[in-house]
Amino acid sequence: MADEAGVTKTLVLATSMAVVGSTFQFGYNTGVINAPQKTIEQFYNVTFLNRYGHPITASTLNLLWGFTVAVTAVGGMIGSLCAGVAAERYGLKKSMLYNNITAILGAALMGFSELAGSFEMLIIGRFIIGINSGINMGIAPMYLTEIAPVKYRGVFGTLGQFGVVTSMLLSQVLGLRWLLGTPTLWPLLLALTGVFAIFQLAVIPFCPDSPRFLLVKMNKEEEAREALQWLRGNHYDVKEEMNNMRIEHQANSTERKTTIIELFTVSYLRKPLIIAIVMQLSQQLSGINAVFYYSTQLFIAAGIPEEYTGLTTVGVGVVNVVMTIVSLLLIEHAGRRILHLIGLGGMCVCSVILVVLLNLHRTTVISWLTLVPILLFVAFFQTGPGSIPWFITAELFNQSSRPAAVSIAGLVNWLGNFTIGLAYPSINAEIGGYTFIIFAVLLAIFWIFTYFRVPETKGRSINEITALFQPEGEYLGGKPVKTYQKMGCSESS
Ligand code: GLC
Repeated sequence: MADEAGVTKTLVLATSMAVVGSTFQFGYNTGVINAPQKTIEQFYNVTFLNRYGHPITASTLNLLWGFTVAVTAVGGMIGSLCAGVAAERYGLKKSMLYNNITAILGAALMGFSELAGSFEMLIIGRFIIGINSGINMGIAPMYLTEIAPVKYRGVFGTLGQFGVVTSMLLSQVLGLRWLLGTPTLWPLLLALTGVFAIFQLAVIPFCPDSPRFLLVKMNKEEEAREALQWLRGNHYDVKEEMNNMRIEHQANSTERKTTIIELFTVSYLRKPLIIAIVMQLSQQLSGINAVFYYSTQLFIAAGIPEEYTGLTTVGVGVVNVVMTIVSLLLIEHAGRRILHLIGLGGMCVCSVILVVLLNLHRTTVISWLTLVPILLFVAFFQTGPGSIPWFITAELFNQSSRPAAVSIAGLVNWLGNFTIGLAYPSINAEIGGYTFIIFAVLLAIFWIFTYFRVPETKGRSINEITALFQPEGEYLGGKPVKTYQKMGCSESS
């Protein structure tokens, strides 16, 4: 028997290339816009005054800022649709390599916007960075799971979300007012995203493309073998892994690709598609990005003194990272369904508590107390809703329908992200402390859906999972009845 593939230095190098060079772009740009909001808004105001001779109105500023935040998600929608096409055409390595053009362009536009006196440049820069993030969040997780040794595949897949939360924290720390979140240094803070691109450009020439991609998609047997040997180290016998990939290659060449229309019209594909879509909506409409994009504003509304809001935002980032690690350790033991239910339920309760606290008579104690439901809201999010929706789509579909399903799910995710980013400031301006009641209601609806409709995927093969959605495989409350038992399998959840 061949020795087990382990974690080699070369594998670590390729992993860092994908995590820092790709998933960091998404996390950094999600988190970076939060702390310096007031400073950048001031730049909008001054630019407006210089151009039109009058200051910007509060409602225009709200809308413009909401747009600045949310436009990245519009780019993300386009990027997520491009990811599949790019992967098919160029492979995963070249897709990541070429995508650095968008990163550097976006970084330059944002970095020079103040010098040019143009907030439009900042907005276009964030749009382009959105395209970059959409492509990266499609390609990098695929690369990570494909280069991983089988026994570490789950961990490597989750490293994508870990990269997102780590870079988010980095941007929150750098955005502090005694670091780069100042009236003169914020353009540098935004432009720093280009550093991840430079890092990737420097490291990527040493890394191979995904061996699985080279063999299964491109039919390049020798290149695939060399890539695998590089990743596993010289002493490892790659024969068995190569054989497994060959079997996948044969299956892949006989299966017909499913079209996007078929996903909606064929019942056994529509059912998992609806689950994938609702899972993505439950992630975004939970209101999580209202916290990540606007926590500074939220803390000020709660009465926390402005000089502490930077630190509290960093606190949110720390909870985010710690809980992602916890989720990483739990996911294969507790299962997806239960973690998602705990996450949504906890977030729902925290939203209600937050609304109550925000509407109580304000004292110093109450103000600081509001931190508790906000931090717990984030902690519950990372328990399940943060990572599960990103990978459950891939588990619900087989190879022939997976790419189309992942594209649609990604699109829905970015659409939800966009809606919250754009709508939150205006809704908050209207109903203030009651905004989170909307999220509480949505979270309750998503909880009920998850309870009745989402099956447990942990420990089941893709064939077993897809069988649940066949006509004779009706499932109830997430518990499969007929097909699964017919197949002679016992319940594993
Ligand atoms: C997930 C979400 C993203 C959110 C992040 C927070 O990656 O997709 O929108 O900002 O988690 O950790």
